[in-house]
Amino acid sequence: MNVPLIDPFARAIEYLRVSVTDRCDFRCVYCMSENMTFLPKKELLTLEELDRLCSAFIRLGVKKLRITGGEPLVRRDIMTFFRSMSRHLDSGALRELTLTTNGSQLARFADDLYAAGIRRVNVSLDTLDDEKFAKITRWGRLNQVLNGIDAAQKAGLRIKINTVALKGFNEDELFTLTDWCAARDIDLTFIEVMPMGDLGNEDRLGQYWALDDLRGRLAERFALTDLPDNTGGPARYVRLEETGQKIGFITPLTHNFCESCNRVRITCTGEIYTCLGQEGHSDLRGPLRASEADADLEQAIHAAIALKPKGHDFDYSRQQIDGQVSRHMSHTGG
Ligand code: GTP
Ligand code: 5AD
Ligand code: SF4
Repeated sequence: MNVPLIDPFARAIEYLRVSVTDRCDFRCVYCMSENMTFLPKKELLTLEELDRLCSAFIRLGVKKLRITGGEPLVRRDIMTFFRSMSRHLDSGALRELTLTTNGSQLARFADDLYAAGIRRVNVSLDTLDDEKFAKITRWGRLNQVLNGIDAAQKAGLRIKINTVALKGFNEDELFTLTDWCAARDIDLTFIEVMPMGDLGNEDRLGQYWALDDLRGRLAERFALTDLPDNTGGPARYVRLEETGQKIGFITPLTHNFCESCNRVRITCTGEIYTCLGQEGHSDLRGPLRASEADADLEQAIHAAIALKPKGHDFDYSRQQIDGQVSRHMSHTGG
């Protein structure tokens, strides 16, 4: 019997987020710097290595696998990986295989994703305004993403939009976004912006929009009913009674959810970060390449989980940025 993954704070690790590439076709300002240097391809785990690593986690009790990046759909042959991982859905070992994407390649891959057993996709989208979209992604085209979302829905995929709440940027779009999602039967989750990466000219404190305030503004127009959590992710959900739609809130700053953390992250080079908001990490590529024995790999995974910290230290409450981590979000995939 494989020993399940329980961290030092008695949290069961059942959710694995895997970044399959550090590359992205956009450069969202809060996620990457403008001049990113990307890793040479030989540094990346191969698709076979990714498969072996994810399969080990699944043997150890992971039930939810989310593929991220950078932008996961720009990795060559990524569909081969999804198709291979779907065997764990068929066997019942995995409850959900899914991805978080910027949507730019969805039109091309939606049918294949559905065929590989994916049923739900999270798409990052912060604005419905062409010009603002081009600005925040540094050069992305909104239409490409909207077409991708359309194609994904036609393929039968359920969509959740992730919107980073940014003061002075998308505050004025709260109801536009909500209405747009309601009209398309799309779920919508707002995220508090976290202090990650080289902030350069970014005024992160100035951009920060606490979701209590956002929720209050929604409540002026809609009746909000709390829903039980049902995705196993960090969001807390409400239903808007007038439209029936589901709205999520991811609140690392105002309502820390680390106590119920069930997840760890793997980078595209095989490092494991056991907390998004801490620098500590362990190497799994070494053990993966050093031995073909699954028991050795499983032991390395257990050793890494034993180092999982209690939580992040992100904090803006002193009107300054505390707990910042220096790596960019694109490194660990959010
Ligand atoms: P669902 O399966 O739909 O619940 O998705 P999810 O929220 O688990 O995944 P998604 O990729 O949509 O995550 C949205 C964002 O929430 C991430 O990109 C991060 O910004 C943030 N987030 C997710 N997990 C954590 C976490 O463990 N800690 C913190 N601080 N933020 C997180
Ligand atoms: N704070 C909060 N969320 C972020 N994301 C990227 N960078 C940040 C940040 N600094 C989110 C994106 C995307 C997901 C992968 O991570 O919006 O939905
Ligand atoms: Fe888990 Fe760390 Fe995220 Fe907190 S910040 S929920 S401990 S990954």
